[in-house]
Amino acid sequence: MEMEIEAEEEQVQMEPPKIHRLDDSVVNRIAAGEVIQRPVSAVKELVENSLDACSSSINVVVKDGGLKLIQVSDDGHGIRYEDLPILCERHTTSKLSTFEDLQSIKSMGFRGEALASMTYVAHVTVTTITKGQLHGYRVSYKDGVMEHEPKACAAVKGTQIMVENLFYNMTARRKTLQNSADDYSKIVDVLSRFAIHHMNVSFSCRKHGAARADVNSVATISRIDAIRSVYGVSVARCLMKVEALDKDPSSSVFQMEGFISNSNYVAKKITMVLFINDRLVDCTALKRALEIVYAATLPKASKPFIYMAIILPPEHVDVNVHPTKREVSLLNQEIIIEKIQSVVESRLRSSNETQTFQEQAVKPTPSCQMVSSNDSNRNPSPSGSKLQKVPVHKMVRTDSSDPAGRLHVYLQPESCGHLERNTSLTAIRSSVRQRRNPKETADLTSLQELIDEIDRNCHSGLLDIVRHCTYIGMADDVFALLQHDTHLYLANVVNLRGIMVILSRDVGKLKMSSN
Ligand SMILES: Nc1ncnc2c1ncn2[C@@H]1O[C@H](COP(=O)(O)OP(=O)(O)OP(=O)(O)O)[C@@H](O)[C@H]1O
Ligand SMILES: [Mg+2]
Repeated sequence: MEMEIEAEEEQVQMEPPKIHRLDDSVVNRIAAGEVIQRPVSAVKELVENSLDACSSSINVVVKDGGLKLIQVSDDGHGIRYEDLPILCERHTTSKLSTFEDLQSIKSMGFRGEALASMTYVAHVTVTTITKGQLHGYRVSYKDGVMEHEPKACAAVKGTQIMVENLFYNMTARRKTLQNSADDYSKIVDVLSRFAIHHMNVSFSCRKHGAARADVNSVATISRIDAIRSVYGVSVARCLMKVEALDKDPSSSVFQMEGFISNSNYVAKKITMVLFINDRLVDCTALKRALEIVYAATLPKASKPFIYMAIILPPEHVDVNVHPTKREVSLLNQEIIIEKIQSVVESRLRSSNETQTFQEQAVKPTPSCQMVSSNDSNRNPSPSGSKLQKVPVHKMVRTDSSDPAGRLHVYLQPESCGHLERNTSLTAIRSSVRQRRNPKETADLTSLQELIDEIDRNCHSGLLDIVRHCTYIGMADDVFALLQHDTHLYLANVVNLRGIMVILSRDVGKLKMSSN
């Protein structure tokens, strides 16, 4: 009771806390912590600056996951000597003058905050040279200002920015990041994404001191080549092109182009590389919508690889909605997502329907595999790199117990224009027929009894399928691929073995072998 009275008295006596203005250095550091959330945010900002500077080559070096050093070098237009004193002040930019400019902005930067933010949480050194200069300049920055006059130095075309000791003055942030091992992989991931979209620019990313680069892309004019060089041939060969165009101002105006994975691409998690008006962004709603389509259409390949570039009129995109510019807001977003969703859905359905299986002839011929219709953009790399072919020995089904002989190797989305679905199926059927020898089937009366029992107890539709199916081959250790009419079935042979042995004798159609 006494304590209650004391608390009440305390409340009455407590004065409201005094409001005071925060010191600029505190404000700037707090703001900087929002813009540069982790090393990968600094890399993204620096690379975007290099792209805005019309670079054709961007090289990134990283030490200690970016905490010790991030160095981004480009061959862009450089920074004018006169601009160096204010380069790293907050809200200084060459990309925006009035608020209205935001409506038509094409550059990735516009706030004049990225470099400034870095100087509040790290040591920043800039080396740059502009066209026609005999030498470059180097200058270091701290808390938004130059630490000394720019020093003349030797320089190669463009700009190099070094960010050292990131978060040296933010103990908690540095500690949490030191324990996280995946910052370098996040940097590699972001560089990979830039590399496949900005395919006219060559990118490299390596750990400091490492001889090998973890991203090493060369400029190309083919998107699929760009994807192949960054994500590998195994991803590229599973992709199909998607496109959408809407010009109806009463609903939505946009253009979409991309590559999406087919049923052969199996991964543990979705990879969604999305660019909207050339900005690398996330769009959770679109990602979710596409995941739903994949789960419904290709349940076994429901974690797809998706590269998508969407172009909208600049005035339909609000780029100023996130401190790291990671998200944008679109006019008619729901309609756009719905339309893209339905384009992807019909693309997946049509690719599913037009999958064909082709057995390679005994005589080695140019390799042809499963066809995904309209799988375009298969030009050889302009850099001269050839499409990686599946080795010939892997294309021939020799033994189903041998991984190289399993049907999976036939399921490559490589286009083979001159062979149609029907001819390839006929080839399979005829070669299967050749292998069969109905005379070899046993003639035991006990089997007849079992057949009668199966006839009595089994579902008639299933029996009809098994009776009249064509055995194509083993898809893996457990599942056989069977064809009935125009349908393909994956049959669990462990469950079906008894029935199949019996029916093979009955109708002389199937012959089980030790393979
Ligand atoms: N690599 C570079 N090459 C040429 N100029 C550069 C480079 N990096 C930065 N700049 C210049 O420095 C300015 C400030 O860069 P900063 O990244 O801080 O701001 P921004 O790109 O204009 O906007 P945002 O904060 O949205 O990125 C840019 O406007 C640009 O003029
Ligand atoms: Mg910028």
